[in-house]
Amino acid sequence: MMISAATTTEGGASLPLDGEVDARHGPILYMEDVSVSFDGFRALNHLSLYIDDGELRCLIGPNGAGKTTLMDVITGKTKPDSGSVFFGQTIDLLELDEPAIAQAGICRKFQKPSVFDALTVFENLELALKTDKRTWPTLFHKLNSEQRDRIHDVLQTIALPAQQRQLAGALSHGQKQWLEIGMLLMQDPKVMLVDEPIAGMTHQEVERTAELLLSLQGRHSIVVVEHDMEFVRSIARKVTVLHEGSVLTEGTMDEVQNDTRVIQVYLGG
Ligand SMILES: Nc1ncnc2c1ncn2[C@@H]1O[C@H](COP(=O)(O)OP(=O)(O)O)[C@@H](O)[C@H]1O
Ligand SMILES: [Mg+2]
Repeated sequence: MMISAATTTEGGASLPLDGEVDARHGPILYMEDVSVSFDGFRALNHLSLYIDDGELRCLIGPNGAGKTTLMDVITGKTKPDSGSVFFGQTIDLLELDEPAIAQAGICRKFQKPSVFDALTVFENLELALKTDKRTWPTLFHKLNSEQRDRIHDVLQTIALPAQQRQLAGALSHGQKQWLEIGMLLMQDPKVMLVDEPIAGMTHQEVERTAELLLSLQGRHSIVVVEHDMEFVRSIARKVTVLHEGSVLTEGTMDEVQNDTRVIQVYLGG
């Protein structure tokens, strides 16, 4: 019996145990036959999606294809009418609410950065540090060396060690986006959902964002929604194309770009 990654409450709901997601025999995240309707309109239509442990997946599709709704379903913001959504083999995400899903290790980066401008880069990461409130009751309690190392690791990953004492409000738009990714990384999520990460960035910032996302794969599984095809090409191993709430096709960037159905959908044909 695979009960290692979940405990069962009296109500029968599955509660994930921190850091234990069973992806040994399959994907880290999967959705099967998921449908979502809004006033009779099918935003997701029998959609199935499988994300492997550690992969970097790009999700594309025209406006209204269902990309945001898909992320809303994974994070628990929207509950589907039918279908199943699992984290690893044992955690039924449909039984968890939004905070419990985040706690289980699935986090989401929204388009607009929401860092704290009046705090330094370091303090923003400190604030995001996952901590047991019983042992660390105040916000800026002295950090232990492990916590300090963790912040320094993340500063390296997001390429902002030189800015750590700067106020976040003084960062460029791109740097704020990286800091927010860093704040998510402080919680060491298994899965990161990233919605349009390069909107408004300079060319150089776009290149560094590609490097950053590529460096995260393996340790994290990442799903990126992005419109910019050149950017998708620069990071994608596998691309999933959504259309009218379903998966139209999946493959390498070359495969999907040469798929006549994909071309038709993008040309509005
Ligand atoms: N809360 C909602 N109420 C009604 N319709 C919605 C709602 N959210 C999304 N939709 C509709 O569902 C479809 C898919 O939307 P969305 O997931 O935002 O697509 P995408 O992110 O790919 O552009 C769109 O036609 C949109 O208008
Ligand atoms: Mg959207």
